[in-house]
Amino acid sequence: MTKLLRIDASARASGSHTRALADAFTESWLSKRPNDEFTLRDIGRNPPPFISEDWIAAAFAKDRSGSQALLLALSDELIAEVADAKIILLATPMYNYGMPAALKAWFDQVVRIGKTFTFDLARGDRPLEPMFSGKTLVLLTSWGEFGFGSGELNQGRDSLTPHVRTASRYLGVDEFHHIGIEYQEFGDRRFETSREAAFAAIEPLVESLSGANSSSSLPNSDRAIHAEGSRGLLAR
Ligand SMILES: Cc1cc2nc3c(=O)[nH]c(=O)nc-3n(C[C@H](O)[C@H](O)[C@H](O)COP(=O)(O)O)c2cc1C
Repeated sequence: MTKLLRIDASARASGSHTRALADAFTESWLSKRPNDEFTLRDIGRNPPPFISEDWIAAAFAKDRSGSQALLLALSDELIAEVADAKIILLATPMYNYGMPAALKAWFDQVVRIGKTFTFDLARGDRPLEPMFSGKTLVLLTSWGEFGFGSGELNQGRDSLTPHVRTASRYLGVDEFHHIGIEYQEFGDRRFETSREAAFAAIEPLVESLSGANSSSSLPNSDRAIHAEGSRGLLAR
């Protein structure tokens, strides 16, 4: 049995393209592997709290008081969900060129010293090491604009995908796939084409990831779905 953790970060409960992509992924997966376990963490509707000075003190405390342990209870719960999962399905919009605040709050709650990473200056200039490994992250995005890839109109303005990629390393992610919708704010044919291409890309990814040993035959991919020409999937 493979365990999957689905995280929905859109603030929109209805009309959300990222939630729809995640629904399609989930339905396709469960049709192939009905006994697999999906945990849904809806941070769009129920955002985790921002970490605080007291939270940081509790996370770094050697001997925690009862109230400090209580302060970390949600973090413990969220980390347990990550620890359990082989595949993390992360459905998120781009807000102001980066991740929604709810998703940043989630990362701040789950990337935690002694729980998901260790810190040791004996390692030199890269003292942080993830404690988990072998996880796959499937990033499902939607953005209103388009062309964030290399050589494109909005090159250099995507702070969402690189941030998710970097932070998720500390959750034990070493395989990364990205399917995204573009042009949402234009609502034109380019958007429709991008949307259709994104939904069409779900099935092959599920096929690949849901194979018998759950290890993908696809290389890591960081892709947005473009409407133009025959390029279809544009690797970045
Ligand atoms: C508050 C807010 C900020 C946004 N900022 C951006 C942005 O910086 N760049 C962009 O391409 N689209 C931006 N968008 C558009 C969303 O990424 C787009 O509507 C997406 O489809 C939202 O995801 P959802 O459909 O799952 O709710 C923004 C939308 C909202 C509501």
